[in-house]
Amino acid sequence: MNKPIIVFDSGFGGISVLKRLIEKMPNEDYLYYGDSANAPYGPRTTAEVQQLTLNAIAEASKGVEPKAIVIACNTATAATRELLQQTYPHIPVIGILPAVERAAKAKDHPRVLALATAGTVSSAAFQNILARVGDSAEVVALPAPSIVVYVEGAMKDRQTVKKALAESFAPYMDKPFDSVVLGCTHFPFAADVIAEVLGYPVDFFDGSALTVRQTEEALTESNARSTQERTGSLKIINSGNRQDLVGFAWTLFCAELKV
Ligand code: DGL
Repeated sequence: MNKPIIVFDSGFGGISVLKRLIEKMPNEDYLYYGDSANAPYGPRTTAEVQQLTLNAIAEASKGVEPKAIVIACNTATAATRELLQQTYPHIPVIGILPAVERAAKAKDHPRVLALATAGTVSSAAFQNILARVGDSAEVVALPAPSIVVYVEGAMKDRQTVKKALAESFAPYMDKPFDSVVLGCTHFPFAADVIAEVLGYPVDFFDGSALTVRQTEEALTESNARSTQERTGSLKIINSGNRQDLVGFAWTLFCAELKV
């Protein structure tokens, strides 16, 4: 492996970002680190998320010299991006945040359902996004921890997540949403469940396109883009240290994203 790009998430969610990074930059080498042993991060305190993220990146970097770190987790980005950049000052650290601004601009005063984790919704980074959107959109921001549990549980228990989402959407079902922001990287894997619970078509937005663009720009600026012509390598590590977890990560990686 040449210098890889480390792509990190609390578990399987960041694979939705990894897929797009590889689509755009297939000749880079990637090391995906999922911290399923400590997921979910969403309900944890900022200090806990910071410590877990620092530990995970230290673990992922053992024996490799990464050229960039992509925090493919909204919760960890909101809590830790600056701290990580200070810890790894010589390489770019790129994050992901909910694409509420993009959803707000897509229509004239849209009604937007912004789904994220509790940690993201209460973060300063998310509150700043809401302030920038102002009254250009009606934004309903809801934590959706059941989706993280569903994806981390290998997407077996669809009934439980549907029931939990139906209960949390119920107070807002009086009028339709124009769009749903998938503000947690686990959520693109459950877009079909969200659409089914809403019961009508909506546009989906997630932050991965911007993350991919920023990663490509940062690598180009630091003259670190791979020049190899062959397809790069991919290694998947999961802190759960179980073969079935790595196997499920590969299943998700091979599955087609519906958004
Ligand atoms: N995938 C993560 C995010 O984007 C967090 C999920 C969790 O561990 O709660 O926010």
